[in-house]
Amino acid sequence: MKETVLKKFEELYGDAQGVKVYFAPGRVNLIGEHTDYNGGHVFPCALTIGTYAAARKRADRKLNFYSMNFGEMGVIESSLDDLKPYKEADWTNYPKGVMWAFAGRGMTMDCGLDIVLNGTIPNGSGLSSSASLEVLTGYLLKDLYGFDVTNIDLARIGQYSENNFNGMNCGIMDQFASAMGKKDHAIFLDTADLSYEYAPLALSGAKIVVTNSNVKHSLVNSEYNVRRSECEKALEELQTVVEIKGLGDLTEEQFEEHKSAIQDEVRVRRAKHAVYENRRTIRAVEALKNQDLKLFGELMNASHVSLRDDYQVSCDEIDVLVEEAWKIDGVIGSRITGGGFGGCTVSIVRDDAVEIFKEKVGAAYQERTGKTADFYVVEIGDGPGEL
Ligand code: GLA
Repeated sequence: MKETVLKKFEELYGDAQGVKVYFAPGRVNLIGEHTDYNGGHVFPCALTIGTYAAARKRADRKLNFYSMNFGEMGVIESSLDDLKPYKEADWTNYPKGVMWAFAGRGMTMDCGLDIVLNGTIPNGSGLSSSASLEVLTGYLLKDLYGFDVTNIDLARIGQYSENNFNGMNCGIMDQFASAMGKKDHAIFLDTADLSYEYAPLALSGAKIVVTNSNVKHSLVNSEYNVRRSECEKALEELQTVVEIKGLGDLTEEQFEEHKSAIQDEVRVRRAKHAVYENRRTIRAVEALKNQDLKLFGELMNASHVSLRDDYQVSCDEIDVLVEEAWKIDGVIGSRITGGGFGGCTVSIVRDDAVEIFKEKVGAAYQERTGKTADFYVVEIGDGPGEL
């Protein structure tokens, strides 16, 4: 991949002298969905697929962006004097947003950049291609301009830029997973205070299989921001009867005791998901520590049901994938992963059942939806770095 982006860089910008190449990963979340903006826990891991960049500083203030994934758009030009989001600037709004967020923190770039990007995450699949692009941009700015930031800062800056430059009110999970990824480990993150712990993913005899429904979601246009405000409203209502900072502060029992403070039935279901999902995540990590993979899988399945019925962020295609997965002997757990409304499922599948899984789920999906699913047996990789 290094050679591929360098070659493209040379082709577009004349030569590749002094160009540096960087990588930042995508992520898959094992459990803890839609809890990260509710002060709850998440349990994602970084993948070995992600986004690559070849970059070099320029002498002037121009910014030249090129993505090998959107080659037809050609080089998209901008300038350090125009760090504003434009619809027609398309995907470049992500790296520009990060530059804008750095500048807002007093880290101003003294000259522009030429960049070539190449991503190995299918777009809109819910595996965080945008977070990987944000973390990648932050990482290369830190390296090329000597900005003093930690990887956790990169996660915060990425989220900040996505919220305030790109209008998507995401939590911090995706950027955190990308910036703090560790090979063969998942990250047990408490989004209430960003304390975290790495958990070795010893899946003795099983693999993580990500299934892409190939139904593309557009989170900004979807219901994501609506869910977030429903939870915020439910929190306000609960705060009139119980002292909490986030829905993640409640146990299931406390929620049941106080839920009548929420004035709307839909909001009760949203809040219920946030509370129960957080508790499931804590339990799942414990189960993993006790090598109780069976319980881990059951909690994943329960997570899906809750996301489907109470949080209502699934869709027919994803439900088909999960239902078909559950039928297969050797599937330890299966659920929707990421923001929802399409994208991917994540399943833990025994080694000896992986091929059957692909065959059967693939065929049933085709038959029931007329669509084709893609399967990735994923590996867990490290955070960002220079290649
Ligand atoms: C998207 C957001 C995350 C998180 C998930 C749902 O991926 O970017 O912050 O809220 O959805 O768990």
